[in-house]
Amino acid sequence: MSDVRPHEIMVPTTAPDDARLRFIGKIHTPWSDRKDCPRQGKIDGPECRIEIFEPWVPALKGIEDYDRIEILYWLDKARRDLVVQNPGHSDSVFGTFALRSPVRPNPIGTVLAKLVSVDGATLVVRGLDCLDGTPLLDLKPDRCAFSPKASPKPAAT
Ligand SMILES: C[S@@+](CC[C@H](N)C(=O)[O-])C[C@H]1O[C@@H](n2cnc3c(N)ncnc32)[C@H](O)[C@@H]1O
Repeated sequence: MSDVRPHEIMVPTTAPDDARLRFIGKIHTPWSDRKDCPRQGKIDGPECRIEIFEPWVPALKGIEDYDRIEILYWLDKARRDLVVQNPGHSDSVFGTFALRSPVRPNPIGTVLAKLVSVDGATLVVRGLDCLDGTPLLDLKPDRCAFSPKASPKPAAT
């Protein structure tokens, strides 16, 4: 791929076909151009919609109990071959693993978002920073609130 900035280092990579991730849904946001996306989502950002695909809809059971959820997504429009980057917002040069740039060998993005509502296969959240149509990889409850909120099962007699 071209468009390497000064001081950036590109490495040869194999075809990115070995991860075999499943996309379990699609994220709908107000942003269709990367330059309009926030660099990091904010909890008071706009409401965004997450559409969960079948057969994964039953996997949402119980998620409504959580105020914050972690969202993992695949930054599908990002290049994946830079080890050193010269971010547009900075005068300095950094290694890829010292940045939260979408440009990385496996372009996984994460946010801790506010869960606004759940209705069937659709979640409404605040706190995203990705393009409209970004593929969804996974959802997890806030790591500080991982215990299921349901009452414990009665002890066996
Ligand atoms: C800096 S990344 C941060 C992602 C995530 N919050 C993280 O820290 O892992 C967010 C930026 O990625 C870019 N981006 C958003 N959606 C993308 C997509 N589907 N493919 C490639 N780049 C994307 C936009 O420029 C956005 O501002």
